[in-house]
Amino acid sequence: MRVLVIGGGAREHVLCWKLAQSPHLSALFCAPGNGGTAAIAENVPLDPMDFAACADWAERHAIDLTVIGPDDPLGGGIVDVFAAHGLRVFGPTRAAARIESSKVWAKRLLLDAGIPTADAYHTDDYDAALAYLARREAEHGADAAYPLVVKADGLAAGKGVIIAHDGGEARAALNTFLVERRLGAAGSAVLIEEYLEGRELSLFALSDGERVVPLVPACDYKCAYDDDEGPNTGGMGAYSPPAFATPELLAAIARDMLIPAVRALHAAGAPFRGLLYAGLMITARGPYVLEFNARFGDPETQVVLPRLESDLLELCVAAADGRLDTVAPPRWSDEAACGVVIASRGYPGPFAKGLPITGLDALDPGIRAFHAGTRRDTDGRLVTSGGRVLTLVARGATVADARARVYANAGRIHFDGARWRTDIGAREVAPAG
Ligand code: AMP
Ligand code: GLY
Repeated sequence: MRVLVIGGGAREHVLCWKLAQSPHLSALFCAPGNGGTAAIAENVPLDPMDFAACADWAERHAIDLTVIGPDDPLGGGIVDVFAAHGLRVFGPTRAAARIESSKVWAKRLLLDAGIPTADAYHTDDYDAALAYLARREAEHGADAAYPLVVKADGLAAGKGVIIAHDGGEARAALNTFLVERRLGAAGSAVLIEEYLEGRELSLFALSDGERVVPLVPACDYKCAYDDDEGPNTGGMGAYSPPAFATPELLAAIARDMLIPAVRALHAAGAPFRGLLYAGLMITARGPYVLEFNARFGDPETQVVLPRLESDLLELCVAAADGRLDTVAPPRWSDEAACGVVIASRGYPGPFAKGLPITGLDALDPGIRAFHAGTRRDTDGRLVTSGGRVLTLVARGATVADARARVYANAGRIHFDGARWRTDIGAREVAPAG
């Protein structure tokens, strides 16, 4: 099979790495790819947002399966364009991807389907939003009304969610989205929702439009600095599996959330084929959906796929063809995985690019470096090209072992300003004695 992966981050590198293990693969392309995918696939200089050019290229190169990595092309309808060309693609249509690309639409779908999620108010009108806050404050008291979560409706690259600790922060958030329009159209409507306390969990599932095949759970770390300090990022690390994700909890999430969501999308005329990502908060009252995404998560995929022992290509083709019932359930390694993002100084703010990267050849055997912001310069040197540069991943008998191995290697990667969080997976390490 000839396979094309769309995207250029560490998620796409690990997708390529796993797909490349399939005996069914005959050729692998990644568009646009990065300095890491170049070693295992042929990078193709296509713009993932130019759907016609991507589909045309896939047609001319007899691609049997295209796997879409990022949210933007999915939300824009790349899958519909591929389907119109008769091309097989792993990923939801534009209508089904609304579960991620419109938080207002998704919230209504979840509530209508009876899926546990935070109660929310939505509006595109600033005065109505202010009036809602005033009503809540009158009802609960100005302090007890908070925290609240203010979310932009559309895709916002991690910048669309603001936790408001008081009325001032809530009003400032509404002003940013609805008045200043700092996120453009993505922030032209907002959700104001109840703040949920608990432990966050990511659970991915393959879906063929009707059936749901959950993968193994993972936890990611979104804040830039240790102890969840600092600004939100695309993700600074992840591990799998978290001890609190018991088989009973995972079964309840599949039964009460993943399966009803896939049924609701089907009933809405938007069957979901691809990877459904449940972002969950495990509260004292049980699991709640924070959000669904319509794609593999980054960096969770970098710790989930290294644990997969089955053929990812077979699973993706079966999902795309609507026949997940014809393949064996995925088999998983008992080993855990821990992944740490090596980032550029300044990320998620401004950072330098083009800095030479060394040390990849000094990593211990079995340590994987999945590339994100890297490229080869004209001299063939590997240099930085983004804020998240690499995800370093180790496996181990336990999360604690995997964590120790990955951190023993992080300091061997060198580029000017390289930095990482030091607490990924730390909560899984049993206290001594
Ligand atoms: P989202 O993009 O919806 O996953 O939100 C980004 C992050 O904001 C999540 O990973 C949570 O840490 C936090 N968050 C979102 N919604 C809530 C909520 N209702 N209560 C508490 N935290 C939330
Ligand atoms: N890990 C967060 C995301 O992929 O959205």
